[in-house]
Amino acid sequence: MAEDILLAACSPRRGGNSDFAAHLLQEALPGRSLVRRVADLGVRPCISCGFCALHPGFCSLDTPEDGAKALFEDMQRARFCLVISPVYFYHLPAQAKAWVDRTQRFWACGEKPAHGRILSAVLFGARPRGEKLFEGAERTLRYMALALGMSWQEPLRLYGLDGPDALEKSAEARERILEYAKGFGGEPA
Ligand SMILES: Cc1cc2nc3c(=O)[nH]c(=O)nc-3n(C[C@H](O)[C@H](O)[C@H](O)COP(=O)(O)O)c2cc1C
Repeated sequence: MAEDILLAACSPRRGGNSDFAAHLLQEALPGRSLVRRVADLGVRPCISCGFCALHPGFCSLDTPEDGAKALFEDMQRARFCLVISPVYFYHLPAQAKAWVDRTQRFWACGEKPAHGRILSAVLFGARPRGEKLFEGAERTLRYMALALGMSWQEPLRLYGLDGPDALEKSAEARERILEYAKGFGGEPA
């Protein structure tokens, strides 16, 4: 893969703020990023079958139709992985949480397949304020980074984005995302 930045857009809503942010960043980082829509990848939730405890690094749910393994491979290839996600009930949407839980295969064996890579996030919610709005999602993503051997980089938190075109309409929020992208290790165009 030529791209060194993985943009994991985590909303199930098509054409909403997550997709807009992913494409904004993709345009700002020409040729450097790969967008994945996590909710479209058929990632099934962990069923705690214990398979990974017996077969380190493997998962009984891996099939060609299930996107979890491919997502982890994308993370290993990229230098920087950015989770772009709305808050759902103070956490990640269920499809994204399913992906996080599938990290259990690495947690179970202590393998750190993405060692040295960076994980960060752009998180947003409809609420205009609330210091705990992003707490659940952040804690979970930090723990995912730990399980994969990645460094966690402070996320960007955006308030007051609700309708599907809220980000598109907010010059300030768009600017903050592009400013944040400068920390990916390259200047946006
Ligand atoms: C099921 C559901 C739960 C939500 N829970 C919250 C919440 O707890 N706090 C909040 O501020 N916004 C919440 N929202 C609003 C979304 O975070 C917001 O609309 C966001 O901009 C959606 O991003 P998207 O356009 O990428 O789908 C929720 C939306 C849905 C559909």
